[in-house]
Amino acid sequence: MQVDGRDVKRIMVAGGAGFIGSNFIRSVHRRFPAVDVLNYDKLTYAGNLENLEGIEGHYAFVQGDIRDAAAVEKALAGVDVLVNFAAETHVDRSIHDPGDFILTDVYGVFVLLEAVRRNGAVRRFVHVSTDEVYGSIAEGRFSEESPLNPSSPYSASKAGGDRLAYSYFRTFGLPVIIARPANNYGPYQYPEKLIPFFVTRALQDFPLPLYGDGSNRRDWLFVEDTVAGILALIEKGEPGLAYNLGADQERSNSEVTRLILEILGKPGSLVRAVADRRGHDFRYALDWERMKGLGWRPGVGFEEGLRRTVEWYLKHEGWWRRLVEKKAFRSHVRKNYE
Ligand code: NAD
Ligand code: DAU
Repeated sequence: MQVDGRDVKRIMVAGGAGFIGSNFIRSVHRRFPAVDVLNYDKLTYAGNLENLEGIEGHYAFVQGDIRDAAAVEKALAGVDVLVNFAAETHVDRSIHDPGDFILTDVYGVFVLLEAVRRNGAVRRFVHVSTDEVYGSIAEGRFSEESPLNPSSPYSASKAGGDRLAYSYFRTFGLPVIIARPANNYGPYQYPEKLIPFFVTRALQDFPLPLYGDGSNRRDWLFVEDTVAGILALIEKGEPGLAYNLGADQERSNSEVTRLILEILGKPGSLVRAVADRRGHDFRYALDWERMKGLGWRPGVGFEEGLRRTVEWYLKHEGWWRRLVEKKAFRSHVRKNYE
């Protein structure tokens, strides 16, 4: 892996024990075995070291909070590239309990930026934002120049972190690149998000709480494609720019649910229409021409990606059962969906 024609020796991954972060570490470890990877993660409810089992050599884990300036400064010593995945990420949790979203997704990003500024030797800081910062779009697509119009405490906090990162490029010249991916799915996704939630619920013959009339739409990007996009951004992205990572794989929530039930051979009677999410964005859609300019294209279509995802959950029953059987997970489900 190279940045500005020089080898990258050490990469720090904040939030590397979560869903996308752990897939990213696995890919870096496989593709660039000589690069040292430091996984810096607080291990919130969503962080899970089981996601990284089997990763050995040129890999270290530090349990730490991105809001802890002293710990971040120490971890950053000798790092050439920082990728920030660390965040509170679930919209429904942000509706019930927004405090941690502001503290991690805004203030935590500020702490990372300040540490990078003081460090002076970090050559790229890829900050992972989200397509949700644009808000909902009934027709057409958002480009990177579209105004930000977030709807939930989650997406508003992410918009804050996103623009704060940009401000450190403009004001201090930090080599910041911002990634705005669409909805991700795939192996190791915490079972609170739509696809793994419905797959694991259906496997237990539990009802699937579908919001509203199920017509809300999302663009589904397989996690491997996101990881490839972030690697492209490290090597070829232009500091100061934001990059949309879309998939052109738009589906309604009802279609996603139907496909999951079909793959699992479970009945449609498991679906329960429940009251809509407050402030529910109807549709996300991205123009991702800028990423095409870096040679990136998603390679996994939705039906194939969903099949691979369902197979992974079938094979890794112990992994998800240990999560869904926790008291805190059960109470999250009761609070939000029952
Ligand atoms: P996740 O919830 O699976 O993992 C988040 C990780 O961050 C966990 O390991 C958690 O322990 C860690 N973390 C949380 N707060 C922390 C803190 N204060 N200090 C250190 N570590 C902390 O999230 P994900 O789905 O893998 O998302 C990763 C990033 O990508 C997030 O920034 C999210 O906003 C963004 N994103 C996600 C999606 C998606 O569909 N999953 C799509 C677009 C963007
Ligand atoms: O678009 C990127 C974003 O995608 C990321 O930034 C977020 O971190 C990630 O959580 C995701 O946000 P969404 O709100 O789109 O994802 P979620 O899986 O929570 O919901 C997807 C859709 O499914 C949404 O329209 C709400 C609906 N839904 C979700 C759950 C969990 C249901 O109908 N029932 C459910 O039980």
